[in-house]
Amino acid sequence: MRRNSVTLLKYLVIAAIFIIAGPVTLKYLFGEKSGGNEEFVNADINHVMPREPHEQPKADVPLKKIDWHNYKNIAEEEQRKGPGEQGQSVILSAEDEKQKQDLYKVNGFNAFASDKISLHRSLKDIRHPDCKTKKYLNKLPNASVIVPFHNEHWSTLLRTAWSVLDRSPPGMIHEVILVDDFSNKEHCKKPLDDYVKEHFTNVKVVRAKKREGLIRTRLLGAKAATGQVLIFLDSHCEANINWLPPLLEPIAEDYKTVVCPFIDVIDFETFAYRAQDEGARGAFDWEFFYKRLPLTPDDLKHPSEPFKSPVMAGGLFAISSKWFWEMGGYDPGLDIWGGEQYELSFKIWQCGGKMVDAPCSRIGHIYRKFAPFPNPGVGDFVGRNYRRVAVVWMDEYAEYLYKRRPHYRDIDPGDVSEQKAIREN
Ligand SMILES: *[C@@H]1O[C@H](CO)[C@@H](O)[C@H](O)[C@H]1NC(C)=O
Repeated sequence: MRRNSVTLLKYLVIAAIFIIAGPVTLKYLFGEKSGGNEEFVNADINHVMPREPHEQPKADVPLKKIDWHNYKNIAEEEQRKGPGEQGQSVILSAEDEKQKQDLYKVNGFNAFASDKISLHRSLKDIRHPDCKTKKYLNKLPNASVIVPFHNEHWSTLLRTAWSVLDRSPPGMIHEVILVDDFSNKEHCKKPLDDYVKEHFTNVKVVRAKKREGLIRTRLLGAKAATGQVLIFLDSHCEANINWLPPLLEPIAEDYKTVVCPFIDVIDFETFAYRAQDEGARGAFDWEFFYKRLPLTPDDLKHPSEPFKSPVMAGGLFAISSKWFWEMGGYDPGLDIWGGEQYELSFKIWQCGGKMVDAPCSRIGHIYRKFAPFPNPGVGDFVGRNYRRVAVVWMDEYAEYLYKRRPHYRDIDPGDVSEQKAIREN
């Protein structure tokens, strides 16, 4: 017994020495590596390449953090009055109520109500109070915002673009790319080109030559993008106050970090703006339904800090262009939509990156009441996508999926050799 406790004590002492001396030793061994960061420190404002992972800034050059709020803009927005302003509901007259159906049917939301609202409408600032005083690096990379759309309604599409530009620091948006997935609504064609030419200098429209589906349309936008960070949005969003610096800072600190904003709800009927909740970690069940799990007690202690989340919801996120293309973008073998959020999420963390949600970046999104577009009629493309993701990234865990959906076993995933090669590297 006594002997045992002496041995135990010995181990404890050794462990203590390691805990105390470990960091010092490591610093001694690897400390030199933290140099070579001149490019970051001396770069022009907004023109800094995202940093390599684990590169630390030089201790003697403190990184400057600044308040990026545009207070003039915020004060002006607070004065705005009119339908939907301050993120309020739009109340339609009895006459209007009778007219809303046609637009409702083709959009799955009350587009007639949207048309009553200014393209520059103000929103309420529903961020956590700590976000209002939060500072971010004074040097952040710039962003290409990629907005894929198919037959998106005019006012919701343009409000997406305006909200991004109205609420971002000058120069930080390199460009907004509206990527048209072969729309056939008339307003999505020449009228859109004309509007963009007349009103914007850094918005462009890129068009697919045939119907491609969401995944390949996003890829088309990413290929056209030349900014340092790619931000993917849906085509019926509204970016809220100071949404951009919190998305970019974690990427400036480590280019392999992918950042998701909080997604707020724009009501499909009234266009009222509200929170869906105060954050959750992304997950999925074994039928690949997306799930949201509560934050950890530790995350709850820092309500304005980015927290780790293993799976993105899919539609809205920021990623450095360098990291996106190092991972080969999305698997181009995925068809139309479905499973791409899992593919990219698995790839990010299995290839040495990480994902966080930034609570101070909030973007409203219209969740449709119903899907207004017909099924593409090409069979079970979602099942095939899931099968591809399972074959490439899930190893023995794929069994859990097959147990719930036995027919996935028989789906031919197609050629996955390129995707497996990405995983090996
Ligand atoms: C964004 O950064 C790139 C690369 O540094 C630069 O070439 C481009 O001019 C920047 N865009 C804007 C709008 O400043």
